[in-house]
Amino acid sequence: MPRVINFGAGPSALPDSVLQEAAAGLLDFNGTGIGIAEISHRSKEFTAFLAEVESLIRTQLDVPPTHSILFTQGGGTGQFSAVVLNMLARHRLLHPNLADEDRVLDYVVTGSWSKKAADEARRLGGARVHVAADARLHSKDTKSFDNIPTHDKYKFSLDPALIYYCENETVDGVEFSADPSSAASFPFELLPEGGLLPLVGDYSSSFMSRPIPRLADHAVIYAGAQKNIGPAGLTILIVRKDCLVDVDAAAKLGAAAVPITMAYKTLSDSSSVHNTPSVLPIYIAGLVLRRMKELGGVQYYEQLNKRKADKLYTAIGAGEEKGIFKAKVREGSRSLMNVVFDVLGDDLEAKFIAGAEAKGMKALKGHRSVGGIRISLYNAVTEEQVDAVVAYMNEFIQT
Ligand SMILES: Cc1ncc(COP(=O)(O)O)c(C=O)c1O
Repeated sequence: MPRVINFGAGPSALPDSVLQEAAAGLLDFNGTGIGIAEISHRSKEFTAFLAEVESLIRTQLDVPPTHSILFTQGGGTGQFSAVVLNMLARHRLLHPNLADEDRVLDYVVTGSWSKKAADEARRLGGARVHVAADARLHSKDTKSFDNIPTHDKYKFSLDPALIYYCENETVDGVEFSADPSSAASFPFELLPEGGLLPLVGDYSSSFMSRPIPRLADHAVIYAGAQKNIGPAGLTILIVRKDCLVDVDAAAKLGAAAVPITMAYKTLSDSSSVHNTPSVLPIYIAGLVLRRMKELGGVQYYEQLNKRKADKLYTAIGAGEEKGIFKAKVREGSRSLMNVVFDVLGDDLEAKFIAGAEAKGMKALKGHRSVGGIRISLYNAVTEEQVDAVVAYMNEFIQT
């Protein structure tokens, strides 16, 4: 069976060569005679592999020694909770006498994932959630996530326990610009001054797709692996060391107790093996990261991903001129990873999807909450595959 072109939003495409290597590793990991899904996570071979994965991330993203790299499970959704609990524990240790209603969590809401994260913070309680910016208020109809707000639209609190944003909104196709001079960049210059910033970035769907702006200023960056670097089941954290706090000491002062597998300090103290980690996803992610390094790292992917996205947005523009396609996101705020648009006209969307499937292109349907088309361009999607979908789109416009 030939492999299809997978434009899925996650789990998503992985490089063929890595999958073949991983298949061999399932039978024999690094010449041990034991498969990777069978070997002990405390074996010296796996311990060395895990250290290599960490170093592949550290060198390619230029993570400074002030930050730890941790591996866990539970996905982005697990981190919606974990980040609140750990950052509230940190804030409690810094300000033990503050009343809960005076403890604030700042959320920048630019799409459905950051909205979900803010909802989870409200559900957990222990602090007031302040929406520092809500992109819907600045959208074409005041209810869509179709833009990154301009810098004048943000209002941050003075001393929040965290400042949260989602770098790339996978469902809505909205992404912060990495260019600091762009109106759609993250407003780093507006953040509270003095002390270490409690800045938290959800990088689930753009991790390793390009360098991370102002990485060293972040308290926590996290990402599920299942978009750019591996299968589901692995969550990667980059945590500044002052955020590896004693959550039990904070609980004694009144903070919420933190489940042991969610406590960043526990993860760090145990080198991410407090309990059994997701050995197979870590292995596959490691193989992807080795390949990335050989190809030229995040700088290589940044250029490639820009070219891929440019080609796709150009095809959408050509369709817009003919009244066939309509981009959903305002120019300047468009994602390089998840490209979303509508096909206009009765039944034409279904026709577009069926025609693509007949050509072996799968998973183009937009998220069920927003509809339309979504084409995800993660690292493993090649430029040739993008050329194929662009050729199909141009053919669709003509016919
Ligand atoms: C940006 C973003 N954050 C969080 C999540 C939730 O991740 P998970 O399904 O791993 O819990 C997703 C999932 O697609 C996502 O795209």
